[in-house]
Amino acid sequence: MTGPRRVSLVALGLLLLTACSAGGSPPSTATSTSPPTTSPATTTTLALPTTTTPTSTTTPTTTTLPIDPALAGLGDPYFPTLGNSGYDVVAYIVALTVDPDENTIEGLALISGWATQDLETLNFDLLGLTVDSIEVDGVAAAFTRDGAELVVRPRWHIPVGTAFHVEVAYHGTPENLYTIGFPLGWVDAGDITYVVAEPDAARTWFPANDHPADKAHFTFHITVPAGLTVAANGTLVEVVPGDGVTRFTWEMPEQTATYLATVVIGNLIRLERPGPGGVLLRDYLPADMGNELPAPLVRVPEMLELYAGLFGPYPFTEYGHAVVPGMPGALENQTLTAFGREILEDQGAFGRPTVEEIVAHELAHQWFGDSVSPATWQDIWLNEGFATFAQWLWVEHDLGREAYDATIAGNYEFLAGAPHPPPGDPGPDGSQMFHYSVYLRGGLTLHALRVEVGDDTLFAILRSWAERHAYGNGSTPEFIALAEEISGADLTALFDAWLYQAQLPALP
Ligand code: TRP
Ligand code: ZN
Repeated sequence: MTGPRRVSLVALGLLLLTACSAGGSPPSTATSTSPPTTSPATTTTLALPTTTTPTSTTTPTTTTLPIDPALAGLGDPYFPTLGNSGYDVVAYIVALTVDPDENTIEGLALISGWATQDLETLNFDLLGLTVDSIEVDGVAAAFTRDGAELVVRPRWHIPVGTAFHVEVAYHGTPENLYTIGFPLGWVDAGDITYVVAEPDAARTWFPANDHPADKAHFTFHITVPAGLTVAANGTLVEVVPGDGVTRFTWEMPEQTATYLATVVIGNLIRLERPGPGGVLLRDYLPADMGNELPAPLVRVPEMLELYAGLFGPYPFTEYGHAVVPGMPGALENQTLTAFGREILEDQGAFGRPTVEEIVAHELAHQWFGDSVSPATWQDIWLNEGFATFAQWLWVEHDLGREAYDATIAGNYEFLAGAPHPPPGDPGPDGSQMFHYSVYLRGGLTLHALRVEVGDDTLFAILRSWAERHAYGNGSTPEFIALAEEISGADLTALFDAWLYQAQLPALP
């Protein structure tokens, strides 16, 4: 079995470890090359003097506002300035008029939330773009920008427990972030424009509380030149033709992390089919790919059935893929996975994992990552380790237990070949977050748990995890506590060895 195994490792480097541009050589990991204009949040600690000079004053109403460091972040161990404290967003309505040729957007973002403390100012994350005006509860508000922090001072302070509505008018050409080594955020790929934002690039296209801990409902009203199609999260509820333009309205009623919000714009074809359990399957392909479903997507209904059986019901009403050019991987955007076209069409060039296994991986993320989102970015193995383990379960379902065992053994050997960060703490850097260890050793952690507690208990744990934290967040200590609660076993040593120690534990 060494032949297939070797192929599997190369493919892992290229496909699954999307961020690892080094392509399968064990010791190297993704390199982050940021353009000089935008430094990633990982390395930026906002200079937070008590008074700050705004870097851009775009309207006369802009005044100098102090940035309260307590409000300008959510305390993420890896991304301290991402997200903001003091409030909870309930819903975003993002209305954009897009000129894909010029790559400009004109936006109006309506953010509804409520204050979790008395607020003199409200902080949002927004990178680049020009803010034209801001209203809070219908009244013009002062604002300041400092890097990616947008500080808003309403005319009246917002008492704890009070609801608020913020309206931000903005425009410009979105900038990309290179946190994991390739363009993130609003990506202009020529014929197609798409958003892939994990982990920190939602702030490149709308003002956000840009951290998975503050999930919200989303509505998108996207106006594009007539003839183009817009796909986004959730359900397409309206298509309104106008004067040389078309407006597409999409609604995502379930809680969504900002990094999983997406729109895809282009000359796209929609392919629709019913899925199991009443789930509507809709895929968006570049029109020149033709009218036929690409082979790796054909068995999605069978995958849905498998995972619903193992993890509990699929958490949303729709699922599908948006195939996009020039992206070296796939991203589990909620209900609409973005899939790199070149990878999808390379079917046959790889052995294992097959492109179909990557398709299964992204689908599994809808339970683990999307419905249950990480409490902090240090909990990333709860996304990637779980989706990788689920992908191996597809192998087991499709090819049998021997193929599963061979996959486990092959990946273990690969990990044993070089030192790597432990998946429970890969390090405070975007590129390390998606290190192959987070995927493979993270997946092996669940395999080790499976061997320890047995199949029935393992799947009872995974189902409870998906159910108790549905449409919310979960942390690693919470997962360990749940595993111990359901198994009745003391699992401290197992999780400590697999998740936190430098040394790779023995394969059980
Ligand atoms: N979550 C992706 C995966 O399933 C990896 C990833 C993170 C990604 N950010 C991305 C892929 C941006 C494409 C674009 O492995
Ligand atoms: Zn993944």
